[in-house]
This record gives sequence, structure tokens and C-alpha cells, in this order.
Amino acid sequence: MSAPKYINKLQGKKVIVIGGSAGIGYCAAEASLESGSHVYIASSSSTRVDKAVAQLQADAAGTEAVKGSIQGREIDLTSDESVEQFIAWVSGDTVAGKDKGVDHIIFTAGDALQLGDLMETDFEDARKAFDVRFWGALRVIQIAHPEMKDRGRLGSITITSNGRTELPAYLLVYRGPWHTAQQRAG
Ligand SMILES: NC(=O)c1ccc[n+]([C@@H]2O[C@H](COP(=O)([O-])OP(=O)(O)OC[C@H]3O[C@@H](n4cnc5c(N)ncnc54)[C@H](OP(=O)(O)O)[C@@H]3O)[C@@H](O)[C@H]2O)c1
Repeated sequence: MSAPKYINKLQGKKVIVIGGSAGIGYCAAEASLESGSHVYIASSSSTRVDKAVAQLQADAAGTEAVKGSIQGREIDLTSDESVEQFIAWVSGDTVAGKDKGVDHIIFTAGDALQLGDLMETDFEDARKAFDVRFWGALRVIQIAHPEMKDRGRLGSITITSNGRTELPAYLLVYRGPWHTAQQRAG
């Protein structure tokens, strides 16, 4: 019989979730924590990050299997300095005897889209719509990559993004669990 492929795969790994204060990122942080990872969430609001961390800690405390950890900080995705500070903080953290570096990055940060009809959209508004969702993701990847490579072990980068401002009605059905988590995180 072969060993399980996925169980405990995230145990002891450092997982960054940019956009982890709500929605998909919050759920990814919760799942990573439950898998025994050391999780670091970030968003544009320290208040929302602190609230999400407190909720995740409270839920984890009532879950027997959880052996990971959860922390968080505010981040400015339009600033090299802010992203560098966040990555350096995670990379240098030796929580629970963990060595330096970053194992996995999940990027779900998405600010409110202001885009309407293409021909009526102001050019500057359209350009700004990429600041967090596209350039922010690229900035995080470029800055974090040196912390991830050449370390002789596997890592991953996962991005969820979107360029539409409306969901078709049938997709709203699948948003149920995410909204539940969002409401709990505030
Ligand atoms: N949910 C869906 O059905 C779905 C489907 C397809 C694609 N997507 C895309 O997947 C991504 C995540 O979706 P979601 O539903 O999880 O969104 P969400 O619930 O609105 O969560 C977005 C996260 O991004 C953070 N954020 C917003 N602006 C930020 C900024 N300037 N800097 C850093 N963090 C920021 C938010 O925290 P703060 O407000 O505290 O900053 C929050 O943690 C989005 O790009 C979305 O468009 C979602």
C-alpha cells in the first residue's frame, strides 16, 4: 500500500495568504491552518487582519488536529517597501523552530472593481483596476521568489483574480460557504 499523497503535505510549511482577511483567502488560511501550516495573512486593513487572525485562532483552539499557527499584518500592494517588509518578516520568522524562507503563496487580494461599460470607462480608472489584482500579484511574486527558490524543496504560488464586476446568477449559488466565512471574519 502506498503512502497518502496529500495528507499532511502542508504540515509545518509557511503559507502566505495575501487577501486572507476575507473571502477565498480567509478560507484558504483556515484550511492551511487546519493542515498544520504556519499561516501569515495580509490585507489593506490592520483592523480586518487582526479580526480575522483572532477568529481563526479562536476556531483553531477548538479543533483538536490544529498544530499550525496564524499571524497577520497590513500590506500596501502598491509599495515595494511594504511588500519587501512583509516577505522579510515571514521569511525571517522562526516560529516553532521553523527555518527561514517561504513555502507557499496564495494571492486572493482584490479591491472593489470600478469598471463598467468598456467604452464608457475612464482610462485612469481602468489602469487603476490592475494595481492590486495584477501589479500587486506580480510585485509579491518578484519580491518573494528569491525567498522560495534554491531551497531544495517544493513550493507553490496560487492566484485568484477577476476582471468582471458582475457574477452570473448561477455562480451566486457557489458563493455560500465563502460568504459564511466572510461574515464570520467581518
Ligand atoms: N468569490 C468569487 O466568486 C470569485 C470568482 C472569481 C474570481 N474571484 C476573484 O478572486 C479574488 C478573491 O475573491 P474573494 O471573493 O475572496 O474577494 P473578497 O471576499 O472581496 O476578499 C478580497 C480580499 O482582498 C483584500 N484586499 C482588498 N483590497 C486590498 C488591497 N488594496 N491590498 C491588500 N488586500 C486587499 C481584502 O481585505 P481588505 O479589504 O481588508 O483589504 C480581502 O481580504 C478577487 O480578485 C475576485 O475578483 C472571486
